[in-house]
Amino acid sequence: MGGKILSVASECVPLIKTGGLADVVGALPAALAPLGWEMRVLLPAYRSLRRLFEEAPEAWPEVWHEENLWGGDGRVRAGTVDGTEVLLLDAPHLYDREGGPYVGPWGDWIDNPRRFAALSWVAACIAREGLAGWKPDVLHAHDWQAGYAPAYLAYHGNGGCRSVITVHNIAFQGWAPVSQIDDLRLPGWAFHPAALEYYGGLSSLKAGLVTADRITTVSPGYAAELARPEFGLGLQGVIVERAAVVSGILNGVDTAVWSPEVEDVNPYSAKSMTGKAAARAALCAEFGLEVPGPLAILVSRLTDQKGVDLLPAALPAFIEGGGGLAVLGSGAAEMEAALHDLAARYPGRVSVRIGYDEGLSHRMFQGGDAVLVPSRFEPCGLTQLYGLRYGTVPVVAAVGGLADTVINASPMALAAGVATGVTFWPTDELGLSQALRRLLALHADRKGWTRLVRNGMAQQLGWEVSARAYAALYDGLLA
Ligand code: ADP
Ligand code: GLC
Repeated sequence: MGGKILSVASECVPLIKTGGLADVVGALPAALAPLGWEMRVLLPAYRSLRRLFEEAPEAWPEVWHEENLWGGDGRVRAGTVDGTEVLLLDAPHLYDREGGPYVGPWGDWIDNPRRFAALSWVAACIAREGLAGWKPDVLHAHDWQAGYAPAYLAYHGNGGCRSVITVHNIAFQGWAPVSQIDDLRLPGWAFHPAALEYYGGLSSLKAGLVTADRITTVSPGYAAELARPEFGLGLQGVIVERAAVVSGILNGVDTAVWSPEVEDVNPYSAKSMTGKAAARAALCAEFGLEVPGPLAILVSRLTDQKGVDLLPAALPAFIEGGGGLAVLGSGAAEMEAALHDLAARYPGRVSVRIGYDEGLSHRMFQGGDAVLVPSRFEPCGLTQLYGLRYGTVPVVAAVGGLADTVINASPMALAAGVATGVTFWPTDELGLSQALRRLLALHADRKGWTRLVRNGMAQQLGWEVSARAYAALYDGLLA
């Protein structure tokens, strides 16, 4: 069928990224275009993005305006970035600030509920009324930052536009005190448990979940997990209540960016792996490592979700068995400190870079033998997919999208020749150390290892299949 989609999010590659949300929001428009769906992406004009329209105002005409968008002018400017049609919400009083999208020099911005209510409000206005010559059929909201957009459509009229919300991570719920209900332009009559009320306050994510026409999340496994308290984290009741409209659609990989064949330095393919050996040597030199056994990498936000705190207990036996670890990440100060301690304890075997570095992350996937993803929960996860693609064997906790995408090297899977990695459960120190022990054994068997690597590299990880699933979802909404 096909039609027009307004995608609303706080992150989008290549413009602004703190995690996988940005990869997915950035990849969807190009993936959906061949299927007849024209997707435009609405984003806040953060300080780092303002140069786009300040340097080339003629390329970014104003297409929408509200005089008092929570205390200042809100203008939407339309332009194109790498072939994607982007709508930037220019509201300097909300977004022209130093720091990241959510966090300033002193922590989370205290007006985050308003900042993202404003984004959602503008999305709902565009969805309801359209822009000159462009009226969306579906509003597609991502995560808590866009959660109020379906709610505004539901409470203030939808103008015929349907809505979808995608949960990339249910742990972030967009909480605000109920005293803000009027300020957030939400109806007081909807403050009850079946609608906006959430543990005595407001949650933009819950608001989206109760009002959107469809709910998706980024893997079938996580969709099922969300109905349980330990994964739903307070919102499991809403998920169960709306089970009939909940589905899981696995994220894809942007293979134009994430493929060993397209790397400028040390490219390789399953057929010719010499580039990978060279990349490994270069990576060891860059990190100051000398590793006789498997070189594991970890590229991650350093938060409780990611299970990085399990490493100090699980790593020693792996190191003694010949393994090594290169880490790239940033986040919680105590996790950064614990990683530095490990590096000091195992010089030449463990090395850590704190920070965010896209180029280095590519070199790590190229040069590593294995990638660790010991998450406590993982809605989809992208780094295990990059690992598969680069022949860097994933060692993952068997949760959410990790369990959906990695085939554990069990005796049966090995015998059938289909294994692609190592999975373990539960996510605890014992689980991770046993997984690392299995990694050592698998790596020691050269023929078996080659098979494992090849199987991973042969997986179909592009967006084609998932784009068709989104297209079918939109079709179903408009039928
Ligand atoms: P999440 O979105 O929960 O952080 P994902 O696995 O979905 O987890 O996505 C993480 C994305 O961010 C991947 O593209 C990964 O390569 C990237 N990433 C995470 N930390 C860093 C870092 N320190 N430097 C570069 N890229 C990083
Ligand atoms: C979230 C999740 C991650 C997922 C990403 C993109 O950040 O933590 O698992 O891959 O969103 O959907």
